[in-house]
Amino acid sequence: MDGNGRWAKKRHLPRAVGHQRGVEAVRSVSRAARAMGLEALTLYAFSTENWSRPEDEVSALMGLLKHFIQSDLAEFVRDNVRLRILGEWRALAPDLVALIEDALEQTAANTGPALVVALNYGAQDEIARAATKAAAKGAVTIGSIEAELDTAGLPPLDLLIRTSGEVRLSNFLLWQAAYAEMIFTDVLWPDFSPAHLHDALAEFAERERRYGGR
Ligand code: FPP
Repeated sequence: MDGNGRWAKKRHLPRAVGHQRGVEAVRSVSRAARAMGLEALTLYAFSTENWSRPEDEVSALMGLLKHFIQSDLAEFVRDNVRLRILGEWRALAPDLVALIEDALEQTAANTGPALVVALNYGAQDEIARAATKAAAKGAVTIGSIEAELDTAGLPPLDLLIRTSGEVRLSNFLLWQAAYAEMIFTDVLWPDFSPAHLHDALAEFAERERRYGGR
């Protein structure tokens, strides 16, 4: 969800306002994804590298996450949304951990579309943790690693969209992206709308997926 900072800067607003508008985009795009019938939507909210940002920005982001869970949980419960969190979220502040645990518990029986939030997440860390667990249980194979990834049980990653003109993966879902289609757009995340998601899905539908075959 790149571009919150640049969106704010263009308007001479504090970065935190860009992140606030980013949350509004999260809300509208995730509702649209459900309405369009997507099985899962994963959002990269906070990376293991984001800790190097200034303390006030980190705490603004954590505050926004807390507020998002508090204000939208009832909707997830009502709309049968399966909430999943990727990454080392248990290492976050105790009040946020408690909030997430409660949200996961309240949505645990849901069977509908998954809303997945990567929080304190890094793909290399995820793969290393999964490989360690797989090794402790026996043979290390593609399947045994996959079963220990944070995304275990979620559908395969089909489409990865990165906003704001950056053309790299930045440690996001590296394993899962093996055969994912990718779309890189210049749109800044706060401006990313359901119409942009719709256009991305139309582009995805045109792609020929060969998975290494021909
Ligand atoms: C990248 O933009 C965005 C982030 C590091 C944070 C994304 C988090 C949110 C939108 C808030 C909470 C999330 C949820 C799921 C409620 P940037 O700051 O790197 O912007 P820039 O690339 O323009 O500097």
